[in-house]
Amino acid sequence: MNSIEVCLTPDLIHQHELAGKIVVVVDIFRATSCIVTGLANGVAAIKPVGEIDEALELGKQGYAMAGERGGKKVDGFDMGNSPFEYMGKELVGKKVAISTTNGSKAILKSDGAQEILVGAFLNLKATVGYLLDASRSIVILCAGWKGTVNIEDTLYAGALIDELAEEMETSGDSAVLAHQLFVGNHENTEAIAGESSHAKRLAGFGVEKDLVFCMTENEYNIVVKLEGDHLVS
Ligand code: MLT
Repeated sequence: MNSIEVCLTPDLIHQHELAGKIVVVVDIFRATSCIVTGLANGVAAIKPVGEIDEALELGKQGYAMAGERGGKKVDGFDMGNSPFEYMGKELVGKKVAISTTNGSKAILKSDGAQEILVGAFLNLKATVGYLLDASRSIVILCAGWKGTVNIEDTLYAGALIDELAEEMETSGDSAVLAHQLFVGNHENTEAIAGESSHAKRLAGFGVEKDLVFCMTENEYNIVVKLEGDHLVS
């Protein structure tokens, strides 16, 4: 039987063997929710980069530049990190370079996996369908916050495990913890995610509507996958 592991923060990724497995990277608030939203709304491809300078370089090549530091838009970028900024008609058919505090870096840290997917509540069912068809072992990589664990990404890991539980077995205590977090809160995921430190940080910036949107399940029926060094749907 294939297995599902959960890596609760990118700082623990060295504890997981990635070769031959599918890594699903998640940063619910808000990087992977933005990536899924952009690709569902017609963005051609999204290149995750670690540093601001790399995004600025890509900007010179015609990419739209997106991302944040500390939750706030980077000076000189076209977009910050709100999913509502990824829905514009001007982005249809365009490439985007994204650099965020945790999410884009977590994607880069998944190097070595057989396949790298990006997940969000927004495309939960589509990702589940893909993973069931692929029939491989999975590592869910939670982006967390600067090396620490967060509630919202762990909750998503638990939701994904809940959907896959009949076909796969959990491996490691972090997978059991994530699943139990979801099982105990599945009727009100927004409330428990609202308790997270990053939800409180973002609420301080007045972007509560982002939080509600990022917790919406199955808004989009797309799977997001890394092809080369670009994310595509
Ligand atoms: C990140 O990558 O750390 C986040 O997506 C931060 C944010 O909410 O903008």
